Amino acid sequence: MEEFDFENRIVSPTEIMGDNGDDNPLRPRKLEDYIGQDKAKQNLAVFMEAAKRRNECLDHVLLYGPPGLGKTTLSGIIANEMGVQMRITSGPAIEKPGDLAAMLTNLNEGDVLFIDEIHRISRAVEEVLYPAMEDFSIDIITGKGQMATAYHLPLPHFTLVGATTRAGQLTAPLRDRFGVSLRLELYTPKELAQIVNRSASILGIPIEPDGALEIASRSRGTPRIANRMLKRVRDFAQVMSDGIITLETAQIALERLEIDELGLDANDRRMLSAIVNFYKGGPVGLETLAAAIGEEAITIEDVIEPYLMQIGFLSRTPRGRCITRAGCLHLGLELPDLTESQLKFD
Ligand code: ADE
Repeated sequence: MEEFDFENRIVSPTEIMGDNGDDNPLRPRKLEDYIGQDKAKQNLAVFMEAAKRRNECLDHVLLYGPPGLGKTTLSGIIANEMGVQMRITSGPAIEKPGDLAAMLTNLNEGDVLFIDEIHRISRAVEEVLYPAMEDFSIDIITGKGQMATAYHLPLPHFTLVGATTRAGQLTAPLRDRFGVSLRLELYTPKELAQIVNRSASILGIPIEPDGALEIASRSRGTPRIANRMLKRVRDFAQVMSDGIITLETAQIALERLEIDELGLDANDRRMLSAIVNFYKGGPVGLETLAAAIGEEAITIEDVIEPYLMQIGFLSRTPRGRCITRAGCLHLGLELPDLTESQLKFD
């Protein structure tokens, strides 16, 4: 079987080199420039305004949802709108309680501390985080045995912004310490087209409205994918025609990149085909499916499935994953005899 490379495909929503960095000019810096996520945005605007009027820092914020939707961007906007600095780290990068203590004691009053993949912090680190979030203090013990000394260290007030693809994996005590919890949703093609037009204008790429919409509708609801696709389509437009992204150049470029009209690439199609060909359309357990296509279960769940479920190609049933009628039709595959549990969820 061919190797799957979900991480480096153009439709991967996980970050790859060149996407990001603080100097990414495509990142909006103000809430008014942030497109979509209206519910989250409106609430956040109120919370920030209220905190500013009280001269306090914003309560801790949990951002959750699939990768690539702009959690880091939103955190940067919070810092910018509140007029403070943002420090960035991630759950797996904080190895020891001391690592977190060092970051916390280096914050300035009011700063935003952004912890990506916060569901991956260790229990020991989490223990330090509780009093830091609640009382803005930490207890540090130095030395061992009889020489051990405990220090109670006050911290500057700060806003913790935690980001996760899986809010369900946070422990209840950690989740409860976030005053604000915002769920980010996949973007509509219309919103993504606005993002593509904005990015094209920043990068000086000439693009026609239906070219932007074409890129948008193949970006799996994810700005990070849309922006990456925009850059690749620009390459085709420059080499194959006059550099202007039209509907036609977008279509040709995306066909060459093997991304279909709905944004599925060869790997998505193979995963769906595997459900049909190996498991009669499902239900198939996540772990079994993962083993069959040589991918980690967590990647399937976090990265691949949200979009396939949003477009109604895949359903999760109590007994496993099933392809839907629409999914089969799209692949041009014979409909297997759908079982009762599939039909219920179709
Ligand atoms: N770039 C990434 N996400 C964005 C968003 N929501 N609005 C504008 N630009 C973006």
